[in-house]
Amino acid sequence: MKTLAIVGSQWGDEGKGKITDLLSAKCDLVVRYQGGNNAGHTIIVDNKKIVLHLIPSGILHKHCTSIIGHGVVFDPFAFVEELLAMKMAQVAVTPERVKISDTCTVITSYNRLLDAAREGSSDNKIGTTGKGIGPAYEDKIGRRAIKLKDLRDRNLLMRKLEENLIEKRVLFEQLYKISYPTVEEECDRLLSVAGQVLPYVTDTFNVLDRAMANNKKVLFEGAQGVLLDIDYGSYPYVTSSSTSMGGIFTGCGIPGGKLDEVLGITKAYTTRVGMGPFPTELLDEVGEKIQKIGNEFGATTGRKRRCGWIDLVLLKYAVKASNITSLALTKLDVLSNIDQLKLCTGYRVNGQLVHDLYPGFDLSAATPNFIEMDPFTDDFQEEGKISKNLELYISQIEGHLKIPVGIMAFGPERREIVFRRDYF
Ligand code: GDP
Ligand code: IMO
Ligand code: MG
Repeated sequence: MKTLAIVGSQWGDEGKGKITDLLSAKCDLVVRYQGGNNAGHTIIVDNKKIVLHLIPSGILHKHCTSIIGHGVVFDPFAFVEELLAMKMAQVAVTPERVKISDTCTVITSYNRLLDAAREGSSDNKIGTTGKGIGPAYEDKIGRRAIKLKDLRDRNLLMRKLEENLIEKRVLFEQLYKISYPTVEEECDRLLSVAGQVLPYVTDTFNVLDRAMANNKKVLFEGAQGVLLDIDYGSYPYVTSSSTSMGGIFTGCGIPGGKLDEVLGITKAYTTRVGMGPFPTELLDEVGEKIQKIGNEFGATTGRKRRCGWIDLVLLKYAVKASNITSLALTKLDVLSNIDQLKLCTGYRVNGQLVHDLYPGFDLSAATPNFIEMDPFTDDFQEEGKISKNLELYISQIEGHLKIPVGIMAFGPERREIVFRRDYF
């Protein structure tokens, strides 16, 4: 048996989809354990683009079983849309290949309406994806969530929706003054897709447990990134789930101690979508150039991603917070086209230089301290060969984080990658 976790080490969109797809070739199961369709994981094969939001990124490999664990908040309509997209892309998605936990929390219309109303009315916007993620997790923690298995019983669903609406009705009518579906309408809406979703719904705890008992190779595919974690991230500008390695233990049903390795997916620079502090952000033409060359647009919302230099202080924190054992460094080709190269190795806080900082500190009060390096201009044409400058850049990162870079990616296609070590 071997278990490997893929975790985003920054603010998401590090290239988790691409790396998961490649490593899935050698494993038996791929498991999503948190988040929902706020995720957008891109896989490019022979110029064809597939963006996955709920279905794990192992789906392109026929031998792989995909699991959506109970820690995921699940929008059944988003799933049905994804099924259709997969069909168009001629990817077979069957209940034998995709298994969804019957205790996944269902994202309802009420959750999405609340998400939109809050973002629309507040001066302190988070810049959410608008998918109802936060309100769905609130319902889960508040012990009033609709679970996928509830879609099997109309009477139960009606009763639970009614309970669910008791407080929200006050918010919709009196605070936000927006219209909302009746319990009956919402029940009909959810049941209209139940027939397409329920065949996939099962006890995934046991599927995973049996697989582990049978020595299978399991890949856990994180969504978002450590700095968006509800506890470890730059609160309140975070998502509402445990995006760090810890989410695996609560989000799909493996007890602690069964994780062999954690691979931190890391962009060679940094991006962030939505609001919140971003100390190394480049608000100049260099940032614009990286955004353009890196084609940095959100895979879920299409928003422009903010861009900046790599932040080794926050990365060091992410490595500790998620017990990351090696890194996959992605989008090196983008930096190859930039004629400057900087790394943040410390911060100035009240005039003092510090090398350890965590997002619990108000990052907007910290000024990044950069070191400058000679830029690299590799074209990655010769297999396995990299320039001295790129080798030095990687050494700087490894030296600061004290873990190896096991993978280098230099383009979106599957072949545009170098494995410096084996994972499965
Ligand atoms: P994820 O959310 O972590 O899976 O990442 P996204 O799919 O949201 O964003 C990463 C984007 O970068 C996608 O469009 C990928 O196709 C692309 N990508 C991944 N690795 C590389 C790379 O090494 N170089 C380039 N140029 N693009 C990459
Ligand atoms: P992947 O898996 C980047 C961000 C949103 C917003 C904050 C809260 O593709 O890396 P939410 O809708 O989750 O309540 O929004 O989190 N966010 C992401 N940013 N990549 C993602 O996923 C994200 N999922 C959520 O932009 O700032
Ligand atoms: Mg993404």
